[in-house]
Amino acid sequence: MPDLKDYLKNQQKLVDQALNRFLPRATAAPKTIHEAMRYSIFAGGKRLRPILTLAAAEACGGDLEAALPSACAVEIMHTYSLVHDDLPSMDNDDLRRGRPTSHKVYGEGMAVLTGDALLTEAFTVLAETSPTPRYSLKDILLEFSLCGGSKKLIGGQVLDLEGEGKSLTKAQLIKIHENKTAALLTTSLRLGGMSANATPRKLEALTNFGYHLGLAFQVIDDILDVTQSTEKLGKTAGKDESVNKATYPSILGFEQSKKEAARLTKKALASLDVFGKKGTHLDGIAHYLLDRDY
Ligand code: IPE
Ligand code: IPE
Ligand code: MG
Ligand code: MG
Ligand code: MG
Repeated sequence: MPDLKDYLKNQQKLVDQALNRFLPRATAAPKTIHEAMRYSIFAGGKRLRPILTLAAAEACGGDLEAALPSACAVEIMHTYSLVHDDLPSMDNDDLRRGRPTSHKVYGEGMAVLTGDALLTEAFTVLAETSPTPRYSLKDILLEFSLCGGSKKLIGGQVLDLEGEGKSLTKAQLIKIHENKTAALLTTSLRLGGMSANATPRKLEALTNFGYHLGLAFQVIDDILDVTQSTEKLGKTAGKDESVNKATYPSILGFEQSKKEAARLTKKALASLDVFGKKGTHLDGIAHYLLDRDY
């Protein structure tokens, strides 16, 4: 889909410019931490979550400018989660977004602090969001904080760590994926909807879309970990198997996992009817993610 590729590139640029505006300068004191924050943020990355925020705002008839603080906040929270996910005490990864991981460059202590600083900065950026008639700043704040907290993103990472080396059921695996990945994708979409004063019905549709898209996304991430090269992924391939992670391919097998990703994507797409033509980009992104090979 050539149009969608152009669209994604444009949105990435928009997000990158806004991130550059919102984040502290690399020269701000103390320099090391601000450099390290920017190192991980501007290492590349698909910018999927902020693009979903912008596309959800568009689907609900909102404008992009109003959605940008939320879009940047979710990308900053996501990047913090990657910096910590890669630490030696967690997934112990050397490569991220095609570059050495934060702890490889700045040392482990500084990488912990970089994650802490990014997470905190995400809230500073989110505070730039304007409330709408249906959604107060408190609603927006709670959406964001609950998603990143111990019951969702962190909860999922806890189950992921505890699941290493164990054989889990499919239901247990879904719990991990729902929380460590689908929650932030869903919140990215919901914040976009909230910035556009979405009706409760549309917000619900974004929630259903995000849930199924998020699960599909992590199934695909698990598949790519097995099938793709380190060079293509920009992160170490074959990592999950080497540390005995519970993943879709390891539990269901490869073909069944691919079918599951397609089934989940179809379910996600079924939530988009309510948006009519305005949901075209959300639809395109879901198809694109299912077919991606990096
Ligand atoms: C990686 O996310 C972490 C997962 C939840 C699988 P992405 O694949 O979106 O990583 P970037 O942002 O493009 O680097
Ligand atoms: C990460 O899942 C989810 C996060 C919350 C960071 P993975 O551990 O599978 O992500 P990658 O494969 O390292 O990007
Ligand atoms: Mg992990
Ligand atoms: Mg990892
Ligand atoms: Mg992975």
